[in-house]
Amino acid sequence: MRAHYRDVGLSESDLAPDPFTQFALWFAQAGASGLHEPNAMVCSTADERGRPSSRTVLLKKYDERGFVFFTNYGSRKGREIDANPYVSLLFPWHGIARQVIVSGRAERTGRAETAAYFRTRPHGSQLGAWASEQSSRVASRAELDRMFEQLAERYPEGEDVPAPAQWGGYRVRPETVEFWQGRENRLHDRLRYTLGEDGTWTVERLCP
Ligand SMILES: Cc1cc2nc3c(=O)[nH]c(=O)nc-3n(C[C@H](O)[C@H](O)[C@H](O)COP(=O)(O)O)c2cc1C
Repeated sequence: MRAHYRDVGLSESDLAPDPFTQFALWFAQAGASGLHEPNAMVCSTADERGRPSSRTVLLKKYDERGFVFFTNYGSRKGREIDANPYVSLLFPWHGIARQVIVSGRAERTGRAETAAYFRTRPHGSQLGAWASEQSSRVASRAELDRMFEQLAERYPEGEDVPAPAQWGGYRVRPETVEFWQGRENRLHDRLRYTLGEDGTWTVERLCP
């Protein structure tokens, strides 16, 4: 699979007119290739002093408005996005010699969108979102388990669990999207879409 994509390469004439359509194509190919969790992406943020931090999150939906993931707004990433909304999302599809890098501005999804997604999560994950004050210190594993058990008593299986106020989605509206295809001799293909002020996308080829 990796060799196949390396041989085929990526040319300007292959690209869709917008990065969302191109992403949809590559995302489908990543899924069909059997890659484990192709929706796992590295989300990098920077604090108000410009210090970066990265972590993996899961892409839950995407369309022409952007790329959406869900998290705790009080987490480190959430606090950093509050201070500086510019983020980078990187899909590391090593198994097929590809990566996609999105950079843009993150904004919170509306409460209705968050609540609709929260309802689709397994009961245990819903409780986990309540039990974990993400990124803050916790005294022990036992304390975390105790929190979870208390919540499980309050909301037994089958009972509706509301989305915590501090939990929700971010939609990253891209300003650039780079599609990277590994090739022979390190002469990889890199094609980057950039959003113009008039709302149209232009594509440039970058040296590998
Ligand atoms: C495969 C994978 C998927 C993950 N998906 C999410 C996710 O969708 N949302 C989330 O908040 N954390 C997710 N995490 C946990 C984050 O990587 C991270 O530990 C957590 O969000 C706290 O990050 P922060 O302290 O930098 O804010 C995932 C971790 C892995 C390894």
